[in-house]
Amino acid sequence: MRDQSGRATIRSNVVRSQLDEHAAFGGVVPELAARAHVTWLDHIITQACREAGIDLADVDAIAATAGPGLIGGVLVGLTTAKALAAALGKPLIAVNHLEAHALTARLTDGVQFPYLMLLVSGGHSQFVLVRGVGDYERWGTTIDDALGEAFDKVAKLLSLGHPGGPAVEQIAKSGDAKRFKFPRPLLREARLDFSFSGLKTAVRLQAEALAPLSDQDVADIAASFQQAVADVVATRSRQALERLAADYPGQKMQLVVAGGVAANRTIAAALQAVCAAAGATLVVPPIALCTDNGAMVAWAGAERFALGAQDGLDFTARPRWPLDLDDMRIAPDAA
Ligand code: KG4
Ligand code: ZN
Repeated sequence: MRDQSGRATIRSNVVRSQLDEHAAFGGVVPELAARAHVTWLDHIITQACREAGIDLADVDAIAATAGPGLIGGVLVGLTTAKALAAALGKPLIAVNHLEAHALTARLTDGVQFPYLMLLVSGGHSQFVLVRGVGDYERWGTTIDDALGEAFDKVAKLLSLGHPGGPAVEQIAKSGDAKRFKFPRPLLREARLDFSFSGLKTAVRLQAEALAPLSDQDVADIAASFQQAVADVVATRSRQALERLAADYPGQKMQLVVAGGVAANRTIAAALQAVCAAAGATLVVPPIALCTDNGAMVAWAGAERFALGAQDGLDFTARPRWPLDLDDMRIAPDAA
């Protein structure tokens, strides 16, 4: 349901993080993730209904992520959604996880189309032009590691634990960001893509050269790495906004950030400066809705459903599912 400003109301949003189960392994273990989905999903659905004060029979439709992602967990979620849809006689909406991130700013801030999205998470680093529901154009992506993944790998290298982003940000506060001049990969090229693996290697070589690392060394490396990343993200965002201004003259300029890395204050400050200089509005939804959560998937489902979209119970889960495929579009005769 939307209010007058276009924002919607979240009736409940239960997130059962699995980070603790995976922490001992230094990363997500696919098999464990799938099993945890089986164990917890029923409880989460019951709790979500209770907190929302509704009965499952009251819902209009059932939406679930159908990809992209670790296929075990996606299969458990999608199969559960299909079973509910069949048992309740409700329509099924198969949601692309990236579309859920892309539309979250409309849930939280009522942002109007078109806008530019920067998605920076553990699995993705992309610029996506969001023209409408189901209507996306990818302007750039990473050619190797995702940004969150780079944070996680640097954290591991510095023995800071998992997930690495918050740990790197925390320790960087007491570090000197100018001590090491790490590379800013691809920056000289006129494309909107990212590359973080060379930067990660430079960090590793520096750490090896200094070993054993003092606490100050660790903080300085973390701060210098974070600064390199912030510079890259800021420069690319400025270029992407220039393209937006050229492609959509006279339109309101909006940059929406999504994904766990949006929590990083140094990166957010760099983006704020870029947007201010470009006359653009920066929208960063509350961090709990930037990281993976059920409400954003429900919202994407609601947006698609409102336009007449519906999927068959034979819809298959997809480990890979780029946002800009034509099959994301909602057929004109669906409504
Ligand atoms: O969107 P998300 O919660 O999950 C997916 O990857 O789908 O993003 C998690 C990623 C992790 O790589 C984590 O290290 C990173 O976001 N992250 C951060 C921060 N908080 C989370 N990276 C940098 N600074 C942070 N404060
Ligand atoms: Zn995500």
